[in-house]
Amino acid sequence: MSFDLAARLAARRAENLYRHRPLLDSPQGPEVVVDGQPLLAFCNNDYLGLASHPQVIEAWRAGATRWGVGGGASHLVIGHSSPHHALEEALADLTGRPRALLFTTGYMANLGAVTALVGQGDTVLEDRLNHASLLDAGLLSGARFNRYLHNDATSLANRLEKAIGNTLVVTDGVFSMDGDIADLPALAREAKAKGAWLMVDDAHGFGPLGAHGGGIVEHFGLSQDDVPVLVGTLGKAFGTAGAFVAGSDELIETLIQFARPYIYTTSQPPALACATLKSLELLRSEHWRREHLNTLIRQFRQGAEQIGLELMDSFTPIQPIMIGDAGRAVRLSQMLRERGLMVTAIRPPTVPAGSARLRVTLSAAHSEGQVQLLLNGLADCFQRLGPEPSHA
Ligand SMILES: Cc1ncc(COP(=O)(O)O)c(C=O)c1O
Repeated sequence: MSFDLAARLAARRAENLYRHRPLLDSPQGPEVVVDGQPLLAFCNNDYLGLASHPQVIEAWRAGATRWGVGGGASHLVIGHSSPHHALEEALADLTGRPRALLFTTGYMANLGAVTALVGQGDTVLEDRLNHASLLDAGLLSGARFNRYLHNDATSLANRLEKAIGNTLVVTDGVFSMDGDIADLPALAREAKAKGAWLMVDDAHGFGPLGAHGGGIVEHFGLSQDDVPVLVGTLGKAFGTAGAFVAGSDELIETLIQFARPYIYTTSQPPALACATLKSLELLRSEHWRREHLNTLIRQFRQGAEQIGLELMDSFTPIQPIMIGDAGRAVRLSQMLRERGLMVTAIRPPTVPAGSARLRVTLSAAHSEGQVQLLLNGLADCFQRLGPEPSHA
């Protein structure tokens, strides 16, 4: 037997599922250079336009001068420095939770939290459209793993009836590929009624949602009692990198003792924490970013509806256009690119089979003129491509 990698790769190509990495040759922002081509981009997660903000860059530079570049060791050895600690305190304040714990990435925060809280003899129940890192965490935990219907509290309640041991209910806050938000009040009610804990990964909600950018829990006004485990990532609206889990003192101490992706890895560069402290300050105080973003979201939805595009039930900066067929989604993405517009085609296995889409993301860094250019490009490409063959 040998590894027939060539056959696996050829099968991926044949299914229109082969992935390429576009080469970015500029900072993140609306105007980028990709593979040597200047493009107007609608596909990053820098929702508030902070990834290239001069004050955030300056905080990074000053942090590197003061603290050096590398984390140097894991947090439990000698890698936990004052900027990390100050950032944890600022994130606890943002979330209204007693404590927060920094992780190097969101993927690791999710693996760490789930595997530290449940194991064999326990149950983990997840929304079927959760981010891959949450699904992987559930599988890795060794707990009994089950998925409930998307955003469906009744489906969750049915599964809770059969749960054994400690039970963790896990959901995205804003669903990363659909842009809709979890019905947290209903999910929290069902979880609490059965003594289960609710864990929310609000990677895409912090920043855009909530009056002060506190995400979905601020949006719904939910307490720690409703959502005992709250995860946020720093690589999206915060514009930097890393992630955090916020919750009670006991939760955070438990993660420090038992979360292997926290314990066995080098801390993030302290200068990065300095940069995030600055972006957190901007995220909380510069309300105009959220207001402008909401204006762009309304503009995009109205324009797209006029063109007759199939949008999803989303009022967040994630505004996917449903296409269905993966080949057609790739073709549309290519046609847009020929017109100087970058919108990514999202295909299975990232989304369920037959639900390929163009994932448009909007940022406070975009102007209304740029959103209009996108709408013009979409109208042109959809008209040229014509209706789907099955609908023709
Ligand atoms: C919902 C969600 N959770 C977690 C992650 C992972 O975060 P990170 O990129 O920091 O690993 C992502 C995307 O990257 C995400 O969309």
